Amino acid sequence: MTVDISAFPDDFSWGVATSAYQIEGAVGEDGRTPSIWDTFAEQPGRVIGGETGAIAVDHYHRWSDDVDLMSELGLGAYRFSIAWPRVQPDGQGSGNAAGIAFYDRLVDRLLEKGITPWATLYHWDLPDTLEQSGGWPVRDTAEHIADYTTIIAEALGDRVKHWITLNEPWCAAYLGYASGIHAPGRTEPAASVAASHHLMLGHGLAVDRLRAAVPDAQVGVTLNLYPVSPVDDSGRHDDAVRRIDGLMNRWFLDPILKGSYPKDVLADIAPVTDASFILDGDPELIAQPLDFLGINYYTRHVVGAGLWPGSSDVRFESENGLERTASGWDIDPQGLVDVLSRVQRDYAPIPVYLTENGAAFDDEVVDGVVHDADRISFLNDHLESIATMRQQGMDIRGYFAWSLLDNYEWAEGYAKRFGIVHVDYETQVRTPKDSARWYSDLIRAHRAAILAT
Ligand code: FCB
Repeated sequence: MTVDISAFPDDFSWGVATSAYQIEGAVGEDGRTPSIWDTFAEQPGRVIGGETGAIAVDHYHRWSDDVDLMSELGLGAYRFSIAWPRVQPDGQGSGNAAGIAFYDRLVDRLLEKGITPWATLYHWDLPDTLEQSGGWPVRDTAEHIADYTTIIAEALGDRVKHWITLNEPWCAAYLGYASGIHAPGRTEPAASVAASHHLMLGHGLAVDRLRAAVPDAQVGVTLNLYPVSPVDDSGRHDDAVRRIDGLMNRWFLDPILKGSYPKDVLADIAPVTDASFILDGDPELIAQPLDFLGINYYTRHVVGAGLWPGSSDVRFESENGLERTASGWDIDPQGLVDVLSRVQRDYAPIPVYLTENGAAFDDEVVDGVVHDADRISFLNDHLESIATMRQQGMDIRGYFAWSLLDNYEWAEGYAKRFGIVHVDYETQVRTPKDSARWYSDLIRAHRAAILAT
């Protein structure tokens, strides 16, 4: 069971990904203000076990050891996110030198170790002060992220050349403002659609600012994409598939890559919002030319029509006969082929990076080791899907395993372990799992094969 490394080009980026709130901790240090996740996690009933990211895996203090660990594993790239409330504590106005200095140190050490830094500007930790003035449903927030972008791009852009504007705007908008299972926990359908638009607008404005501050930057955005299929082939569920695919995938892909919102989705959401927040000229601002598309892939959605004929209800089917991760997500490497094929088929050619892919399993340390064969199979099988798509001519340039470390899995607290490195949350001891060794061997084998030619 080993993926064919000859499918990956010499300059393929082998990396891991993390995000600030999930690993940093130190939420009150060096001038950082609360983000929406600090506020949300403290509210009773929001997060399993009432857990917060206040300490997380203490990366804010252990960053240097964590970079050493990455270097020992032979990783070539590290995707991390920048905590906006560290860099610009008021969410507007001037930057915070002490907060910026943390990322300065991190970037310098990564470069010293030959690891390419990939910075994500927004991985869900909006400064709470901006939520108090309306959050993403308010247009000003898009202007604010642009200003924050200039601050951090001017600080790091001499060394950081790979930038991702947003992580998974679908989650930020719809889990944050519609279902309310993520911060800020609002359940306002119309506001959630406005949030999605302002996130994408913020993306477009941030791209402009990045280009101005870092002319040689590679700039992209990361979307969470899912193949959506019907519970059966009767044809009865095709409209459910169209709706869910529309809202989860095309609502983001189309404006960003094609410059327009899908008309069928605008019609679907008409009972909820008239979308008057989309102003003339916005589509052009959103559809900035990008250097790459980041795709996060975890699972497929199988959907069916609601129980009543003609109703617009959709149900998500969970019994699909597939094995599942500890998060209850179907393990479906073929779904990655499907997602990539659809991007290749429906959009103009664009370089792609898998900016997240991974799985939670109930790992245990026994005698100092973690035998996570299930995670190794998961990573291997998804890399095979990437190899398949490369053979079909798709320009896929890198892979970032989610995640380097076990960490704070949002509303799931610390219960779901996604790391290739185990973290003991009491002692903060890091123990590379078998999957970390496996990944490291794969990367080294790829490098050795290049040297041998
Ligand atoms: C993605 C998020 C990431 C992590 C993984 C498991 O949706 O981007 O932060 O929580 O899921």
